[in-house]
Amino acid sequence: MREISSIPFGRPWITDNEREAVQQVLEGHILTHGVRCKDFEDAFAKFMGGDAYCLTVSSCMSALHLAYFQMGIGPGDQVIVPAQTHTATVHAVELVGATPVFVDCNLQTGNMDFEKIEVAITSDTKAIGLVHLLGIPCDMDQILRIADEYQLKVIEDCALAVGARYKGKHVGLFGDVGCFSFYPVKHITTGEGGMFVTRHAGLAEQVSRLRAFGVDRGYSERTVSGKYDVTVLGLNSRMSEMQAAMGCQQLTKVSQILELRSDNFTQLKASLSGIEGVSILDVDHPNKVSSHYCLSVVLPDDLKDSRDNVIRGLNDVGVGTSIYYPHPVPRLTYYKNKYGYQKESWPNAVAISDYSIALPVAPHVTSSDVRYIAENFKRVIEEIV
Ligand SMILES: Cc1ncc(COP(=O)(O)O)c(C=O)c1O
Repeated sequence: MREISSIPFGRPWITDNEREAVQQVLEGHILTHGVRCKDFEDAFAKFMGGDAYCLTVSSCMSALHLAYFQMGIGPGDQVIVPAQTHTATVHAVELVGATPVFVDCNLQTGNMDFEKIEVAITSDTKAIGLVHLLGIPCDMDQILRIADEYQLKVIEDCALAVGARYKGKHVGLFGDVGCFSFYPVKHITTGEGGMFVTRHAGLAEQVSRLRAFGVDRGYSERTVSGKYDVTVLGLNSRMSEMQAAMGCQQLTKVSQILELRSDNFTQLKASLSGIEGVSILDVDHPNKVSSHYCLSVVLPDDLKDSRDNVIRGLNDVGVGTSIYYPHPVPRLTYYKNKYGYQKESWPNAVAISDYSIALPVAPHVTSSDVRYIAENFKRVIEEIV
């Protein structure tokens, strides 16, 4: 075994290209309302490969919020969301005054179990807010069938899913809106940032106003500088030119990023699959291509109470870890206080929150790092059992 390493869970891949692109923006003095956001939107639309309208925004959560806000979903409406997700998925629903209805996940993929979606639908349900967890695509045929039957909007949270595909089509292009995140540990980063993606021209036009206070004309459309009107309520969810310049550079290496993640994931999964009782969240069908955000291991029964020790054992030898996510959202205090929490309602979400460990596979992880992670994972487990 090699000497102690330092392999963080995530590390943004920044080179001189990003540094120079940001520097150029700073030298040009136009820090917002410039051409870089449009360049990044065009490049992202090309990468997605569909007829999509892409709008840069300040985060994935603002994209989600804008989606519900613009669709007029609000008090009295229910939105079906996974219990196992980041709080942002659900906060966006709360912020518009609608009620989240939590659905349990499948233990093989960690994604919302489509069979449980149908059971949760009531006459107040207006939308399904799904998440492609860890970049593993959801069962889109089944979910779209349900949405169609009950006339529901579909909002895809693609925060971890840049590069994920279902039947060859990029996720985020199936529902009404796809929301992406460019937070530092994500596939590509702009520091903070996100993309609002939709196939509907009207929705894109409205959200392009909403993300900038609801002002009726963009900066470049103002014939008299400083003159505009506000026709709708809006937010300030814009991305800056520095971020967009960085995003353009990040996109040029997205294929390489996805390939490295896929190779690392495959190698790590193969090395860990011999360990008895350990399961790994992954795609469950050849129609699905994961974007391999990380490798999430669900511990076997005899190790479940020792998760913190396993994490400590890995961290002690420099292997960074994370948990996606440390609580099912309904167990978080805000939601527990508001809606009550019944553990038995979401057993699979609880199992993933309490017994899983997320291991790194991003481009900073080398092939030798993968071997090191696997060796140490096995060693720590043997020492504990
Ligand atoms: C599934 C999911 N949705 C939304 C978000 C929020 O993304 P952002 O930080 O860009 O708002 C995250 C963040 O990790 C996430 O994991």
